[in-house]
Amino acid sequence: MNILFLNGPNLNLLGQRQPEIYGRTTLGDIEAQVREQATKAGVTIDFRQSNHEGELVTWIQQARGKFAVIVLNAAAYTHTSVALRDAISAVEVPTIEIHLSNIHAREEIRHRSLIAAVCWGQIAGFGEKSYYLALQAALQLKPS
Ligand code: DQA
Repeated sequence: MNILFLNGPNLNLLGQRQPEIYGRTTLGDIEAQVREQATKAGVTIDFRQSNHEGELVTWIQQARGKFAVIVLNAAAYTHTSVALRDAISAVEVPTIEIHLSNIHAREEIRHRSLIAAVCWGQIAGFGEKSYYLALQAALQLKPS
């Protein structure tokens, strides 16, 4: 099984960006952890980050037929991007929406997710562990 982890804008700054909200772990550290856990579970992953909406759309489109599950932290695009929502709907690869922070407990602009309705489910509020829980969800819940 092949799982695609996609990360949206500003997540390349994890570790230094508002650590009181997002923690001190870098995206590279999270990737290393996810990779280690995936290897133990016998699955392969791709782990990518982009600050560009169109690049994320292209990666989602290209996932069809190559990845069993997408784990997506769309970051700020969660709250704005009809293009990401349409890409997820179009490819029909089960997609797990994740967030480090609990978006529902933060400012009102973060309460609405434009992608939630087309995702398989949402994991939010567990810091870096949201990534590891998403891997577990992908492993245990993968539809046949
Ligand atoms: C985030 C939450 C978003 O609201 C925010 O724009 C991010 C990160 C999270 O992981 O908690 O950049 O997706």
